[in-house]
Amino acid sequence: MSINKKIDELKNSFISDYESLKNDKGNPTSLINKYLGRKGLINELYKFLATVDSKEKSIAGKLINDFKNEVTIAINKLNIKEKSKSNSENLDLSLPETYESVGSIHPITLIIDEIKDIFSKIGFSSIYGPEVDSDYYNFEALNIPKHHPARDMQDTFYINENLLLRTHSSGSQIHFMENNSPPIRILSPGRVYRNEDISVRSYCLFHQIEGLYVDKKVSFSDLKGTLEYFAKEFFGHDVKTRFRPSYFPFTEPSAEMDVYWGLNSESDYRITKGTGWLEILGCGMVDPEVFKSVNYDSKSLTGFAFGLGIERIAMLKYGIEDIRLLYEGDARFLRQFKK
Ligand code: PHE
Repeated sequence: MSINKKIDELKNSFISDYESLKNDKGNPTSLINKYLGRKGLINELYKFLATVDSKEKSIAGKLINDFKNEVTIAINKLNIKEKSKSNSENLDLSLPETYESVGSIHPITLIIDEIKDIFSKIGFSSIYGPEVDSDYYNFEALNIPKHHPARDMQDTFYINENLLLRTHSSGSQIHFMENNSPPIRILSPGRVYRNEDISVRSYCLFHQIEGLYVDKKVSFSDLKGTLEYFAKEFFGHDVKTRFRPSYFPFTEPSAEMDVYWGLNSESDYRITKGTGWLEILGCGMVDPEVFKSVNYDSKSLTGFAFGLGIERIAMLKYGIEDIRLLYEGDARFLRQFKK
């Protein structure tokens, strides 16, 4: 039989062995041995080469070499497949799971997102004010002139005589009203700063969400209804709330809202000062002086505003004992909070 014919025959037999292996019949190791092994069929061909006429030897040698290369390439492809197959076959379910560190959402962000969702259902959209603001936006325009005693309660960090780290989110009301006309329904979440002694309960930085609603005929009962809706959505439908009269220079009348949390744990005692009640926000009807600062007509417009404190809600909700944990970025603490 001529060498060409022998190679052709071997090619056909390899193709059919290879195909049946691909269809999961047969074993790749025996295929390798059969064709590429020391005593394999391709080496047999090389032996046969010795008997070939010397004129045809170089052509025949090349044909065998080419065939061997093709077989090697085809088998290498198989090998890769074979490896991944054996990996899944050798899967050991008793091994510990591989750990993928994906991070988690900060508890403050979780609370802010939940509150934004609740208010978005009644038409409030979110806006953001600057954290570094001028004395005018943080105080003056909110009816807190220089030397007003209310400034004592909100000492802050000054960048220069005029620029400061905002002490509350209320300045974003002014920024927004300056650039938009009523009706207005906004929330403005963000960081605020105060020059306070650092302790388990207070920090020089914390978070608020400002709410503002301005339109014709907005009343105090709208304010109460809105905040009660929020409390029910956030704390549950049987939540108990109470309004206490208060004072803020930029609202008149003003109030604070408390939520009854109960005294079920030691941290409940500490955070509610043993009363079970938690003050969560300040609020009131926008003072006409504030409308004057933004050139709104205070005769035809009324509005309400509120400022929610986020940290205290987060501490109660998650039983966090020390406010500083919220700012330290310790991954062991942060990883506990899941949506
Ligand atoms: N800005 C006030 C504070 O930080 C809260 C507040 C906001 C009160 C809006 C009334 C209206 O204490």
